[in-house]
Amino acid sequence: MRSPSTLARAALGAAILGLLVPRAGMAGDWHEGGRLVCSDCHTSHNSADGLPMRYDRSPGLSEHLLRAGDAVSLCFACHDGSNPRAPDVLAPVGYVAEPAAGLFPSRDGSGTGKGHRLLRSSPQQVPLGSGQMILSCASCHDTHGNGNYRNLRGRPGGGTGADLLVAVDQAKKADGANPADVYALENLAYRGGVNAWCVDCHDRAPADHAEHPISATIYGSTMASYATWLAVTGPRVPVENPTDPVVPSTDDRIACLTCHYGHGSTTSELRTPGGTTDSQVLCRECHVQ
Ligand code: HEC
Ligand code: HEC
Ligand code: HEC
Ligand code: HEC
Ligand code: HEC
Ligand code: HEC
Repeated sequence: MRSPSTLARAALGAAILGLLVPRAGMAGDWHEGGRLVCSDCHTSHNSADGLPMRYDRSPGLSEHLLRAGDAVSLCFACHDGSNPRAPDVLAPVGYVAEPAAGLFPSRDGSGTGKGHRLLRSSPQQVPLGSGQMILSCASCHDTHGNGNYRNLRGRPGGGTGADLLVAVDQAKKADGANPADVYALENLAYRGGVNAWCVDCHDRAPADHAEHPISATIYGSTMASYATWLAVTGPRVPVENPTDPVVPSTDDRIACLTCHYGHGSTTSELRTPGGTTDSQVLCRECHVQ
């Protein structure tokens, strides 16, 4: 028997979802073409043909009437490799050797993973940042979509001012069935905006990395070797291309995503090109050592 307050909540939820339906047309990238509709993520009374609609089959109603116990479990219901149309972000990833954002070692920040550990039990200090937070997918991605690359939030750290746009050219856009083509590094040319976006949370990173200027151009640098960068044969780390989308070329410059993953990895807080276990492979793409 559902309690009266649960029923009231369900009715309210149905009303809210009903009222907001016209928003569907405004949703961002991953709703494109109506591929993800409200009922992919919400359920107003968690029942269809007498069965729970939640992905975990729980009969309960959750906050925001989500089809999972919380927002992160909801995202992982499709993004854990179980849905072949959705990009997989949970290790080990099956469909490409190295998805652009790297991967989350666990669903909840447990284990020995590196990078962005999700849903830790108490707020974590942002390393090289002044804030504290419990990280979830929604800290960085707008759950209802927006116009930014990968629906990234305009101000993830809560900074004021205009939205921070991350500009990336994609040779192939998502069509709802091609994650292996779309989320591989070869598909992407980063044009600008990465550093400012990360720095909205990691506001002390530029000062901390001062010995390694975070937007330096490789060509013409006396510290790095452009010849070494031209000769890279393995998977190339991403760089920003403000002038032309060609890599390698003289406008290539380093940015946070050159050395770190957007999500994380099982082994290192630094990128491991091609899954290498040798921590020098990254540095040797630009430095003679
Ligand atoms: C990809 C999953 C997803 C889809 C699709 C989705 N939502 Fe949500 N919605 C969420 C999550 C997660 C929350 C919890 C708040 C948050 O984390 O942003 C939420 C919160 C809400 C809320 C509570 C108010 C708020 O913004 O916090 C309303 C109302 C809502 N959604 C309506 C809708 C409607 C209407 C649609 C269809 C047009 C829709 N949602 C599609 C995931 C989704
Ligand atoms: C700390 C910020 C942050 C958090 C937390 C985060 N993401 Fe991301 N995500 C990013 C960034 C940045 C990119 C783009 C990376 C790139 O293109 O190099 C991205 C890319 C993606 C992509 C595209 C696939 C890929 O490999 O590029 C998907 C899907 C995605 N995120 C889903 C999720 C889900 C699901 C969660 C929670 C389980 C999550 N993200 C949590 C920052 C974040
Ligand atoms: C019902 C399954 C489903 C759920 C639940 C879901 N996604 Fe997705 N998501 C997809 C699919 C499928 C795609 C690929 C879209 C395409 O090909 O057009 C996608 C794509 C994405 C992308 C990449 C968008 C781009 O620009 O390429 C991000 C980021 C993302 N999802 C984040 C999330 C987050 C955060 C949540 C939880 C709030 C979530 N998703 C919940 C199925 C889902
Ligand atoms: C919404 C705020 C937020 C954004 C945006 C964000 N981060 Fe983080 N970052 C965090 C938090 C919080 C942690 C600590 C997670 C933990 O305690 O496990 C973290 C951890 C890290 C770590 C791991 C440090 C360590 O000691 O293991 C690195 C590296 C990192 N972030 C790089 C980046 C990069 C690169 C970007 C941009 C693509 C980015 N972050 C965007 C909040 C953010
Ligand atoms: C050229 C490579 C490179 C670039 C570019 C770079 N980093 Fe780092 N970053 C490193 C190295 C190396 C470390 C030290 C890792 C270690 O301790 O093993 C580090 C450490 C970090 C840490 C963790 C500090 C801690 O106390 O745990 C964070 C957070 C971080 N970087 C964020 C960023 C952000 C944000 C940007 C862009 C503004 C950025 N990094 C650009 C190489 C880089
Ligand atoms: C994609 C290219 C690239 C990668 C990868 C890279 N660097 Fe660099 N590095 C540069 C550039 C460009 C400069 C020069 C900055 C300048 O000219 O001001 C630089 C400068 C440096 C300097 C000299 C700073 C100074 O002013 O004395 C050190 C030390 C350094 N890098 C270490 C590393 C380490 C360690 C790694 C691996 C974690 C690494 N780099 C990865 C491009 C790269």
